[in-house]
Amino acid sequence: MQNTRMKKHWTSFMALALLSLFAFVSCGKSDPDNTGTEKQEETEAPQEPQGNSDPERCLIVYYSYTGHCEEIVAALSSHLEADVLRIREADESADYNANGYKLGSDMINAINKAPDQAASYPAIKSVDKEAGEYDTIIVVTPLWHSRMAAIMQTYLFQNSNKLKGKNIGLVVSSASSGISGVEADAKRLLPDGKFYASSLWINHQNHSNRARLVKEWLEKNII
Ligand SMILES: Cc1cc2nc3c(=O)[nH]c(=O)nc-3n(C[C@H](O)[C@H](O)[C@H](O)COP(=O)(O)O)c2cc1C
Repeated sequence: MQNTRMKKHWTSFMALALLSLFAFVSCGKSDPDNTGTEKQEETEAPQEPQGNSDPERCLIVYYSYTGHCEEIVAALSSHLEADVLRIREADESADYNANGYKLGSDMINAINKAPDQAASYPAIKSVDKEAGEYDTIIVVTPLWHSRMAAIMQTYLFQNSNKLKGKNIGLVVSSASSGISGVEADAKRLLPDGKFYASSLWINHQNHSNRARLVKEWLEKNII
C-alpha cells in the first residue's frame, strides 16, 4: 500500500519535473539550416520533445538607445535560457536624436564608405562576455537610416572571427522601415555565420505585441 503511494508520488514528481523543463528551454536547434546533421544524444536518457534536447549555450547581444530593443530582450529572456550582453557606445553622452538624427547618419555614412576599416566604426565600451564561448548568438539591434545601428555594427565587426560557424538569429526594431538593409549588414559583418531562416522585425506599430511575436519566432527558428 505504502509502496503504491510512493510510486504515485514519484510518478507525479517526474511528470512535474518534465513539464517545468519544457516551459523554459536553452537554445535548441543546433542545425538552423535543417541540413539534417543535428547532434545525436549519446545516452539513452528519457526522450525529450523535439528541439529541447541540446544544452546549447546562447548569448543575446543587443544595443538600445531609446529602450525598444531592451524590452524585446526582456521578452526573449523570458522564453530562453541565455546570457545577455548589452553593447554601449564609448561616448555615452552622444545624442542621436539631435539635428535630424545627424550623428547616427554620419556614423552610417562612415561605415558605408570604408566597411573593411576598423577606424570607420564608432568606439564601444569593452564587454565582459566572450562570444566564442557560445553556440547561438541572437543579435537584437535598432535600425538606423535603414541600416544596422552603427554601435551594433562595431561589435559584429570586432567579433566576426569569433562568430564564425555560430548559429545567428537577428531581431530588428525600427519605427517603420523594413529591415532588408540590416539583414545585409549582418551578413556582410558575419559572412560565416549560420543564419536562421527568418529574422524578426518588430516595428513601433506592433511593439506592444512583442511577447507573442518573440515567442512565435523562437518556436519557428530556435527552440
Ligand atoms: C539615428 C537614428 C536613425 C533612425 N533611422 C530610422 C529609419 O531610417 N527608419 C525607421 O523606421 N526608424 C529609424 N529610427 C528609429 C529606430 O529604429 C527605432 O526607434 C527603434 O525602435 C530604436 O530602438 P531602441 O529604442 O532600442 O534604440 C532611427 C533612430 C535613430 C536614433
